[in-house]
Order: sequence, then structure tokens, then C-alpha cells
Amino acid sequence: MITFGKIKSVKGEISVPADKSITHRSFMLGAMAEGSTRVTNPLMSRDTIATMEAMKALGAEFIPAENGFVVVSKGYRAFNEPSDVINCDNSGTTARLISGLIAPAGVYAVLTGDDSLRKRPMKRVIKPLSLMGSRMEAASNGTLLPLTILPSKMHGADITGETKSAQVKSAVLLAAAQIEGRTTYTEPASTRNHSEIMLKNFGADISVNGKTVIVNGGRPLTGTDAAVPGDFSSAAFFIGAALIFEGADITIKNVGLNETRTGLLTALSSFGVKFELNYYENTIEPMGDIHIKHQSFRGGKVDGELIANLIDELPLLAFLGLFADSPVEIRDAHELRVKESDRIAATLYNLNQLGAETEEFEDGMKIYPLKKEPVQAHLRSFFDHRIAMLSILMCKRFGEKVSVDEIQSVDVSFPNFVSILEEIENK
Ligand code: S3P
Repeated sequence: MITFGKIKSVKGEISVPADKSITHRSFMLGAMAEGSTRVTNPLMSRDTIATMEAMKALGAEFIPAENGFVVVSKGYRAFNEPSDVINCDNSGTTARLISGLIAPAGVYAVLTGDDSLRKRPMKRVIKPLSLMGSRMEAASNGTLLPLTILPSKMHGADITGETKSAQVKSAVLLAAAQIEGRTTYTEPASTRNHSEIMLKNFGADISVNGKTVIVNGGRPLTGTDAAVPGDFSSAAFFIGAALIFEGADITIKNVGLNETRTGLLTALSSFGVKFELNYYENTIEPMGDIHIKHQSFRGGKVDGELIANLIDELPLLAFLGLFADSPVEIRDAHELRVKESDRIAATLYNLNQLGAETEEFEDGMKIYPLKKEPVQAHLRSFFDHRIAMLSILMCKRFGEKVSVDEIQSVDVSFPNFVSILEEIENK
């Protein structure tokens, strides 16, 4: 069991690591494009390294350069057949997106992952890709990794998405960009749009009309510059820290502020939380600084279309329910059941350990403000990076009477989380 000394507050200015979603896509687009792509400030974590290794297996070269890499590739028309199984490790984004990236390439490839990833649904990408003519076989009656991609002749199609998932949308778009003809993908809810922004920037013929993305595929993509902003999902832990620790005053620099990602800010605003955003000018992805101070706030209900725009921040929002003046209720969030862990079960397990009053729903949870400090609590990460980081925050808030079983999983997205937190903490 791991414990941390209690800290009084957090104060200062920090930068968070680069965006995980955008780093994955920069590596993938760099490999799909012809020529050189300069990726500046990529996130180097377990998840993104899995994507980099997969792109190398297809023939892309990653040449270390100042603060990043130059990805050199002959483009998607010249992908190699991978000589071995591709291991996506813990990364759902890698597995789902490269299913679409490899499917039209006319190669035989097998994807697998770690214990957690091999339990996560793959049918959601297999189904739309097969409507476009892909041939795939997967374990457990076509639902789970390992997944085999067979050479096929794919074609454009009009697809109506069934899952509120940027990964599914992106798998379709990465395939569509390579296939002659027109593909449309209509989302059930607006999810993060990094793939659309980046495909356009690499020269794809892509447009967006409401919830429908239209791609006229088969055009070569051209290598370009890709600068990765700080990860809003990593910044979120510090926004949360500001609300958890009395006297906190934090500025987070260089954070990606794409509105399809910042649903946490919308939810917190509805709880009465005040913060300042300073946007930078002339960036491809919106980005800027976030300034937030400790303050009291009420709870509220978060549901509907907003859920997709704070999907990775929902466990944090649930933990914040402990410190709000009224309950926090999260609904329409079934997707949390199939993340790196069942994040509804994992979050409630930990909140209950801390002595909170909670309610569980199939699609969400309700958390009542904590009435008294926990006497003792043993938290579990469930080997899920985001649950591990929230557990660390609780350990630092309540001191050594709270422990957590492991924190190595933090390496999946935010390897230096503890050291950045330590930069701004007051003991
Ligand atoms: C991601 C999309 C989301 C998110 C994940 C990263 C992406 O998953 O939870 O951390 O980079 O596209 P879903 O698309 O499954 O909701």
C-alpha cells in the first residue's frame, strides 16, 4: 500500500504534459502522409509509445528531433505488412484508430493488447469498417482483441454511428481518407474532433456539416507540422486540486481548449465555479492558460450531450462531489463501464472507502458531500491511470490514513504527475 504525506494547499504555475489524443493522431497522420511530419511536444507515455511502435511496424520512421520527432513515411499507399503482432498495450485509442488506419492497406495484421484492453469492445469499430468492405476477425465471437485484419477492397459508405465515441468516428475517418470515393459518418453526439482538424491539415478532402463528417478519400496526404498542446484531461486533475485544497491558486499554461474536450468547464460553471481562460492567437487547436482559485461550489446533474465532452473527466467530477455543497449526479454515461476499468464501479468503490454516501446507476452515479473526514481508507487504482491519479489526490488531501494499492498505471498518460503536483504543493 502506498501513502503520501498530507499537503495543505497547491499554489503556482505549471505546464501539463502534451495531449494524448492529439499525439496519437500526429503519429498516425505522420505515418499516413507522404514526406516528413515534424511533431513538436508529443506525449511520451505508454499509450502513445504503443502507437509509435505500430506506425514503425507499418514502415514509418521516427527520427528524434528537438522537442519531438520527424516522422518520415512513404504514405498510406506504401504501408508495409507488419512482420509481427501489433501490441496496443493499454491503449483503446491505438487499437480502435489503427483498425481503421490499417484496414484499407491490403495487408495482413493482428492487433492485441494488455489484460485490460483485451476486455474492451472492438465490435464498435469492426461493424462500421465492415460496412465499408473491410475483412476482420476477432476473438470472442468477433467482439474482442486479438483482432485480425485481412486484405480487402474497401469502398465509401454512409455510416450512422451507434456509439458516442471519437475513437469509432476516427477509425472510420482514417479508413475513409484512404479509400477512393465518398464516405459520410454521422455521430450520435458530438465527440472530440481532433481527427477532423488534423486530417484537413494534412490535405484530406474533409468537411463537417452538423454531426456529419464527409470525406472524399483516396487523395495523398502530405507531411506537415504538428504541434501538440497540453492535455486538458491532465490539466483537469489540477482544476480538481484547486477545488479540493483550501487556499489553492493555480495557473495551468499551454492547455488545449478545444470545446469538444472542455465539457468539465461547462459542468463546473453550472456548479457556480469561476475560472479564467486566456486563449492564445493563431493556433490550429484552440489553446491557452487556465487560472483557478479555491472556492466553494454547489453540485448538480450532468447528463445528455455534454457527457461525450467530459467523458474522461467524469470520475474526477464524481470525486469533486465529496467537496461540493450539494450532490453531484452523473447520468447517460454508460461508456464509463468500458473504459480502462469500469469507471463507475471503480469510482464508487473508492468513494465508498472514503466514507461517502453514493448511489449507483447503470449509466452513472450520485455522490453526496462528505460529512466527515475518513478514518481510514484503502483505495484501489484498478490499474486505471485516471483512477490512480484521483487516488493520489485523495491521499494528499487526507494524509496517511488513506492509501492506494498501486500508482504505476499513471505512466499510461501522465508519467510525471506526482512530480508536477509536488512542484506546487505546500506541506
Ligand atoms: C479518445 C476518445 C475517448 C476517450 C479516450 C481517448 C480519443 O474514447 O475516452 O481517452 O483519443 O479518441 P471513446 O471514443 O471510446 O469515448
